[in-house]
Amino acid sequence: MSSPMERMIRERMEVIRSKGRLRTLRAVRRVSPRECVIDGKKLIDFSSNDYMGLSMRPELIRGAVEWTERFGTSCGASRLISGTSGACLELEEKIAAWKGFEGALILSSGYAANVGIVSALAGRGSAVFADKLNHASINTGCLLSQAEFRRYRHSDTGHLEKLLAMSQIPEKLVASDTVFSMDGDLAPLSELFRLSREHGAMLFLDDAHGTGVTGVRGKGLASPENCDVALATFSKAMGAFGGCILCSRELREYFINVCSPFIFSTGMPPSTLGAISAAVDLIQTPEMEEARSHLHALSGIARDAIRSLGFDCGSSETMILPVIIGDATKTLEFSRRLYEKGILALAVRPPTVPDGTSRIRVSLNADHTREDVQRLIDALAEIKKETAE
Ligand SMILES: Cc1ncc(COP(=O)(O)O)c(C=O)c1O
Repeated sequence: MSSPMERMIRERMEVIRSKGRLRTLRAVRRVSPRECVIDGKKLIDFSSNDYMGLSMRPELIRGAVEWTERFGTSCGASRLISGTSGACLELEEKIAAWKGFEGALILSSGYAANVGIVSALAGRGSAVFADKLNHASINTGCLLSQAEFRRYRHSDTGHLEKLLAMSQIPEKLVASDTVFSMDGDLAPLSELFRLSREHGAMLFLDDAHGTGVTGVRGKGLASPENCDVALATFSKAMGAFGGCILCSRELREYFINVCSPFIFSTGMPPSTLGAISAAVDLIQTPEMEEARSHLHALSGIARDAIRSLGFDCGSSETMILPVIIGDATKTLEFSRRLYEKGILALAVRPPTVPDGTSRIRVSLNADHTREDVQRLIDALAEIKKETAE
């Protein structure tokens, strides 16, 4: 006899399968930021968020090794117990200086930081106004906070303004991604800031996909001039791992005292801190400035070419290019055909994206070449023909 919960699990999995939404894990061997091997097959990788190709750079590898040799493999405890080293505090100061904020606080992942930021700022008696396409971790933070949770239509500041004006709740938090992870478009940052100020709300910007790849010296799109709190992640363009809260000194002290994923989780291992430290140095060099220019130019070329084939790339303005197919099963088939042609670009389906907007998420990185992009475009053109027949 199976228990009610076991029956529920089987039924849920049946629904997931029947809707073409089953997710599976497969072993991928990354051989460089632009190439990987799956089941012995070499592919051009358009799936990773290693936008600046840093994850295999000798500087980061050396940083990880050196910090491990100096401090060991674990920091041994929560940061409030004995898990904060002097080196970690210095690194936070270096990050804050780079990003232009007074304070930086490293957490174990961007996901944990988002959950922690929102649930620390909002609570019963506050209201959170969030873009409908924000990252799932922001939504989780809202639910955990027990605040009133209002979602505005994607990037629709008119809708946000209405919701803010209607709300009787004094404590307000507006939360938005800067670069939307599945659409590659940019939030209306100056409008968000203006509305937040007009309605006495705090503004939180999740700069996970802006950090390292946009802005002067890669410092991203969020700054103390356009928000109150920001999230950076080191897991994407920075080629390492981990999240970081950026804010005023006063707010940093607040998070240290009330941010649950910070308080109740072991601090970041020295290896990762060493890689982050090297990435923060490297990302600010002229070499990386050039790499960013190359990446943005290449993204423009790819976007124009994909659109001219008749595909819908939404409002993408960055290195994240959605190729919106619509139906989940068709999108899976599209991804399979790309794989056959030596290209890894994965199908993203609901619930990650809204119903009817399943897509191939193409993400470019600075190591990609014009030839790589041409192969992608040729493959998309061929598949379009094959599937139209
Ligand atoms: C917009 C956004 N915020 C936060 C995160 C979480 O960051 P991390 O991967 O460091 O946990 C992601 C990761 O996918 C993201 O896309």
